[in-house]
Formats: sequence, structure tokens, C-alpha cells
Amino acid sequence: METKWFKIESVDEREKIAEAAQILRRGGLLAIPTETVYGLGANGLDEVAVRGIFEAKGRPQDNPLILHVPDASWLTRYCESVPESAYRLAERFWPGPLTIILPKKECVPYRTTGGLETVGVRCPDHAVTRAIIAEAGVPVAAPSANLSGRPSCTSAEHVREDMDGRIDGIVDGGECSVGVESSIIDLTVTPPRLLRPGGLSLEELREVLGEVAVDKAVTQKLSEGEKPRAPGMKYRHYAPKAPLTVVTGEARASARHILANAPKESGIICFEEFLPLFAGEVRSLGRSDDKGAQAQRVFAALRTFDETSVPCIFAQCPDSSGLGLAIGNRLKKAAGFAEIAVESNVKVIGITGCTGAGKTSLLTALKELGGEILDCDALYHQMLRDDEAMRRDIADTFGDVFDENGILDRKKLGSIVFADKEKLAQLDYITHVHLPRRAAQCIERSEKTLFGIDAIKLFESGLASLCDLTLAVTAAAETRVQRIMRRDGIGEEYARSRVAAQKDAAFYRERCDAEFVNNYPTVDEASTAAIEFLHNILKEEL
Ligand code: TXA
Ligand code: MG
Repeated sequence: METKWFKIESVDEREKIAEAAQILRRGGLLAIPTETVYGLGANGLDEVAVRGIFEAKGRPQDNPLILHVPDASWLTRYCESVPESAYRLAERFWPGPLTIILPKKECVPYRTTGGLETVGVRCPDHAVTRAIIAEAGVPVAAPSANLSGRPSCTSAEHVREDMDGRIDGIVDGGECSVGVESSIIDLTVTPPRLLRPGGLSLEELREVLGEVAVDKAVTQKLSEGEKPRAPGMKYRHYAPKAPLTVVTGEARASARHILANAPKESGIICFEEFLPLFAGEVRSLGRSDDKGAQAQRVFAALRTFDETSVPCIFAQCPDSSGLGLAIGNRLKKAAGFAEIAVESNVKVIGITGCTGAGKTSLLTALKELGGEILDCDALYHQMLRDDEAMRRDIADTFGDVFDENGILDRKKLGSIVFADKEKLAQLDYITHVHLPRRAAQCIERSEKTLFGIDAIKLFESGLASLCDLTLAVTAAAETRVQRIMRRDGIGEEYARSRVAAQKDAAFYRERCDAEFVNNYPTVDEASTAAIEFLHNILKEEL
């Protein structure tokens, strides 16, 4: 079968809309855009057409379809005894990502409802699709347009991947703005019950309905033989070939956990701000504070791993408020509910600043307050000795810089990278790929509740994203020159050139949460001030 492609950008394209509607009227299959995900539509009153949907998707027959309508006035055509609450919901949320379950009228075939006496109805927030349905004059039964078991389609391209040659037409109406399917509310029970979390939050539903129960299948794996009220919830919606583990908990803590524990070849789904920490097959779920973006991306992120050879996948997961309930549900279903809940009570403090700024005073103060300190420079040198993956990358990039005993010839490496900026950048890159993983392992292993990371390149390495708090230590350039001369026993000119070659105070000040200005003339004075500074900043923790 040839699948016709309709690119329809506005409801003014009447001819195309009429042609698409004609497919539905004559019992054909048409993929339609909605704000949630693409639907695979057919006339919901036509048993033969509906059977075509199940065949094209490879969908189990007992999994009912949702009827899509152009407005709330169609409710009484297909539903018996429509309660007043249904109209309140429609008034507030339609068109939108909400499906309402009500008793069905006789005209709705059991093939559409999977044998149930109830039917789900929804009015999608996509003007072109509503125009097509109105023009067709029939309710459109439409499951998500993916092959059964694959993630839902959020673009017409995804539909083409799954359905080309299997259906009559695809309407390309752009990317889906919501990205996860509709929320399903069952109004045939008291209190109303959320059967599937989706693009409309539980909080919003409660604003209109008061008490709303949440079906067990939303948050838990059902045991063998247990039946969810929405039959579709029992299916593992998307099982990537590689096993997926969902890591819940505060965003930084879950990022640290994945970084420290996931095998290096793992596929990763992380929040945007943690991207620099991970190498290889990494997908961004969107910023941790932007659940709208996460909902839009979750299926696309899951879709792409089957083209890779990752042995396993780890995904960060938002908390369950707002859209988070739906996003977490899709991830956990994809994982077969394999979940690690990370609880962390360690506060990680990144301390940075350039040479001579007097970081040591602040680090010592943190230690005195009971903190553990990770010196990233020392860790780097340790890793040059014992981190096989990093050593391999260095050898691959810079050639023969290890001697026959496997010891790094620091002079040799130094002469390569200090003569060539690009080579130095390559070495930095290698370090930044490997070091954060070891740093995360150190944090995970620590028994302290305060943990300081001492790193000049806190931001460049991505380590800052692992920190709950970042502190800059700064000092006047002149003070730094004097300190370096005294500390390293070097001449003024050399000291000046070193200070000039480094980032200035503004670089650290702009990026950090707070700044410790260390122009104190003596170490004692600096120490006293550092303790006081930390006390003020960590008031609640101490
Ligand atoms: O956002 C959406 O709802 C998308 C777009 C295309 O509108 N559609 C969608 O359809 O997600 P589908 O078929 O993939 O999921 C429908 C879900 C299934 O879990 C099904 O079991 C449930 O709705 N459902 C449908 N009718 C039901 C009913 N009468 N009682 C309980 N659950 C029902
Ligand atoms: Mg589906």
C-alpha cells in the first residue's frame, strides 16, 4: 500500500483536509497529529476500519481505543449518562491532553472499546486534526501511531518509520507540543480515578474534581494476572533492546550515582545540565527544571538507543509533581519498573579559583568543619597511574608517552601539550571525560555529609554540575603575584606571567554561587575569615 503524505500547516488548506477526511470516511487508516503524540486514526464506529488499526499496529485486541472528537458537544453522541463533571473538565481542559472515560452508547462497537462497556473520549488540541475530524463527520478512534511496543511517535517522521506502507496516509502537522499521551480519567467510578498520567497534571485534575484516586498501575508493576483498569497499562510500552534502569532522586544525586556506577559503555538519558559529564551514547531529557521539555523528549530519547550497541541504559527521572508523574511513568514502564531510588545526604561543595587566590584557607576551614576534601589535581595524577581507560586514551592520542613499566613520562607529555594549544585542549578533554566519574565515585564512597571538591577547572570539567554549592576564592592580582613568588620561590616577572595567563576573578565570580575574597595578609587571618564565611553560608547544615 502506498502511504500518502499530507503536509497541512493550517485549517485554510481545505482541499487537503477534505482529501484526508475522505480517507477516514471510506474506512481507511490515517495518521493524525495531536498535541500529545501522533494518532493512528480510523472511523471509530466502523468495525472493519477499526480492525485495520489493530492489524497495522500489531496491537492486542483487548486494548481499547480512544475516540477523538472536535468538541464537547459530541460527548452525548457516544456516551451514556454524561455527568456534569465531564462538562466541567471539557470546559476547562478541552481541547487538550485529557481523555474522559464514560459509559458507552450502543453505536460504539465493542471492537473499539476492547469489549468494555465504557469508552474513552478526547478532543485533541490540534486545529488541523479537529478540522479533519469535523469534515469526516465521524469520531476518530486513534491509538498512538507507533508499532505496538515501540515508543509513541512525536513527529510525522517517527510515524513514517513505523507505518510507511501499512496505512493510507500520514498527516504531517509538525512536532507534538506536549510529547506524552493524554491523561486518562475514569468518571464511571467514585472518586474519579486517574488510569494513566499524561499531559494534564493530577494537580490540575484535582482542582476541578476534588478527590482523584490514582490507579495502582500508574506507579507500580502489576503482578501476574492483575488487571489494570486501562488495559493498555499492563503492556511494557517500550522495551529498548538494552535493559533500562531508571534512577530517581534529587537530580544532582542521581547524576552522581549514574556517573559513579554505570558501566562506561552504557547509554545515558540525563538532564541537560549534566550532559558534559557523560561521554558516548548520551541523550538529553531537557533541563531538570523544565518538565515540559522532558515530556516532549522522553519518547524520542528512548527511540534512538536501538540503533546503537549499548549494553544497558540508565535514565535520570524527574520527581512526580506536575508532568513528572507522566514522564516518570513512561520511563519506568520502559524499564519494566527497574528503578534505583537514590537518597543522598551529602552536601557537595565545589571550591575553585586561580593560583595564589588562597583556596587552601577555605579548604582547610571546610575540613575543620568536618568535611572531606577531594583534590582534583592529586586525583588526576593518581589516575595517570591507575586509570586504564584514561591511560589508553592518552596513549591513543599522544603516542608513546608511557615507559616500559607503564609509568607516564610527564616531561614527554608536557613537551607535547605545552607546545601546542590544540594538544593541550585534547588532554583537557580526555581528563574531563574520565575525572568526573572517579570524583563521583569518591563522593559516593564518602561517609561525610560535607564534601569539598577542589578544582581549578571546576566548570570546564563539568564537575560543577555535581556540586550543590560552588564557591569562588579570589584575590587581587597583586596579592596573588606576591603569594606565588613566596610560595614557589620564583621571580616577579615569571609570577606575573603566570597570573596573567590564568582566568581572572570575574570568571569565577560570575559562575559561582558565592565568593570568598581572600586578600588577608596572613594565613591566620585568612583561616579565621574562611571559617566565618563557611559558617554563614552553611548555617542550616552546620
Ligand atoms: O494522547 C493520547 O491519548 C494519544 C493520542 C493519539 O490521542 N492516544 C493514545 O492512545 O495514547 P493509546 O491507544 O496508545 O492509549 C489508549 C489508552 C490505553 O492504555 C487503553 O487501555 C486506555 O487508553 N483506554 C482506552 N479506552 C479505555 C476504556 N474504555 N477504559 C479504560 N481504559 C481505556
Ligand atoms: Mg500507545
